Amino acid sequence: MPGAYLIFGPPGAGKGTQAPRLAARLAVPHIATGDMLRAHVKGNTPLGIEAKGYMDAGDLVPDDLVVRMLGERIAEPDAAGGFLLDGFPRTVPQAVALDQMLAERGRPLDCVLVLDVSEEEVVRRISGRLVAKNGRIYHELYDPPKVPGIDDDEGLPLERRPDDEADVVRNRYRNVYLAQTLPVREHYQQVGVREVLIDGMGTTDDVAARLDAALPA
Ligand code: AP5
Repeated sequence: MPGAYLIFGPPGAGKGTQAPRLAARLAVPHIATGDMLRAHVKGNTPLGIEAKGYMDAGDLVPDDLVVRMLGERIAEPDAAGGFLLDGFPRTVPQAVALDQMLAERGRPLDCVLVLDVSEEEVVRRISGRLVAKNGRIYHELYDPPKVPGIDDDEGLPLERRPDDEADVVRNRYRNVYLAQTLPVREHYQQVGVREVLIDGMGTTDDVAARLDAALPA
């Protein structure tokens, strides 16, 4: 049954890999603020121009900009029955803003799905990540394209994300995720939203099966 879900975890945990499939199964749109911001950067919009410096450094884009962007997105008709959030909320003020938006819709967050992955594995996953222009995510060892460096679907060259450099990843994990984003999980524990802890280690199929078992259709 559609509802409002959040997939939560450190950078590189596999949120963007798992969320499209899970959202399709739950019959809700997958709303990823990182993807939305990257589209703004690519399109050179005023928001993209403002966000780019923060993103390249691995820092968070200011709350007011991201909250407004997310608010507009969840007001679109396809999100009326619910959605799967990926990458938002990233700070406690963002969570409070989301709670208020959901209260106005009369339905709180149904569930927080926490992908549990070690820091060591996160670094391994991010250091091999390759992305296609259409958003498809690969890994050079764990999930390689059929032809090295080329997207299977559209034949375009694969790219590395500018924020996947080792020093930026360290900032994203330690200074941003641990310090600013982990408190969002505590916020939802305190307000009593159901949390499902998913072991995010193992293959993508292993993790997908655990997510399916946690949220049966
Ligand atoms: P965002 O795009 O949200 O990045 P993130 O949360 O850091 O997460 P990632 O996309 O890095 O990782 P993921 O968990 O999706 O992993 P993936 O599936 O790709 O945000 C980017 C930036 O935008 C932020 O730093 C910030 O500047 C800004 N931003 C976004 N939202 C914001 C907000 N709310 N507020 C403020 N700023 C915001 O997998 C990683 C790799 O591992 C891939 O190569 C994949 O193939 C591989 N992999 C996945 N699963 C497995 C597995 N089970 N086994 C082996 N390999 C696997």
